Amino acid sequence: MTIVSTRPSLIDRWREHLPFEPDDPVVSLSEGATPLVFAPVISELVGTEVYFKTEGANPTGSFKDRGMTCAVSAAVRDGAKAVICASTGNTAASAAAYAARAGITCAVIVPEGKIAMGKLAQTLIHGARVVSLQGSFDEGLELVRTLVAEHPISLVNSLNEYRIEGQKTAAFELLEDLSGDLDLLCIPVGNAGNITSYWRGFREMGASPRLFGFQAAGAAPLVLGHPVEHPDTVASAIRIGKPVRGEDALTAAAESGGTIRTVSDSEILDAYKLMAAKEGMFAEPASASSVAGLLKYGADGARRVVCVLTGRGLKDPEVALSVTRDAVIPCPVEIGAMEEAVLGPPREPATAASQ
Ligand code: F0G
Repeated sequence: MTIVSTRPSLIDRWREHLPFEPDDPVVSLSEGATPLVFAPVISELVGTEVYFKTEGANPTGSFKDRGMTCAVSAAVRDGAKAVICASTGNTAASAAAYAARAGITCAVIVPEGKIAMGKLAQTLIHGARVVSLQGSFDEGLELVRTLVAEHPISLVNSLNEYRIEGQKTAAFELLEDLSGDLDLLCIPVGNAGNITSYWRGFREMGASPRLFGFQAAGAAPLVLGHPVEHPDTVASAIRIGKPVRGEDALTAAAESGGTIRTVSDSEILDAYKLMAAKEGMFAEPASASSVAGLLKYGADGARRVVCVLTGRGLKDPEVALSVTRDAVIPCPVEIGAMEEAVLGPPREPATAASQ
């Protein structure tokens, strides 16, 4: 059989910078090479040049695929028959997809009732064993770490070095797309693996844009300087109180001359709605925290800024519907009614500040 591939896998594309030999097995869904999209409206508001790194364009709809192709490829190479993770949803969906692709078993631990519908649907349809923990993400991760110490299952959370290695390739792409000319990166921070990855990627290429990380105000252990027992935010992806890469993230932000700060849920939702309504960009709430932070704190003199949009908006239809439901206009099958429905005064627009 001749296999035609339209795009190289992330591992093939960046192999010389990744811990893989030419003959190592590659489990890929053609991840990476995501579009960098100019953001005219946000640029105007902030008074500088702003781009979105659209990580939702990855195969399972989030940046996790960059790390997962590496983590699952390494697991297969090392003979693992199963992978496991604790997750707020995106890692679970990505692990499930790559495990399906590899023909190995996947188990995910998710906090009960706290994961977005799209992510749960993905994880289930890929055939993962979904364990709904009556506790938090942080408790789930602690238990999973104990479990893998006793069983031959490969842990694919961002504690896994291959995850960080894979995710650093987003920084390579940015430098390539912008010819190295980037002053500031705005990025959501949850378990803190991704900001760690970007910094590693930038450093390996000799670049050092400032990193502004943003945590949701109700789940901001790195800003508060201590763990948060009951993290709470509308951005379920980053509802995390004890980030395992917290130290690395603080180091990355400090070394880059940046910071980690908070954005409130209403600031996140305002940015979320603004991006969708004015930029045509539908990212999930956690992703909008990067834009919310830029709008709140400004670019601090940076000339060229990238906001990382970590996950696709469709991941979390419930939040989208909760802020827009009133905008649906009912219409009987009748031309006069349709005329009024189509041409009448607008119903509550998606950009309205009220929720
Ligand atoms: N944005 C999205 C959409 C995420 O899913 C996550 C993390 C983050 C941002 C934060 O990235 O943890 O590397 O700082 N999601 C993890 C998960 C925790 O289980 O899917 P981070």
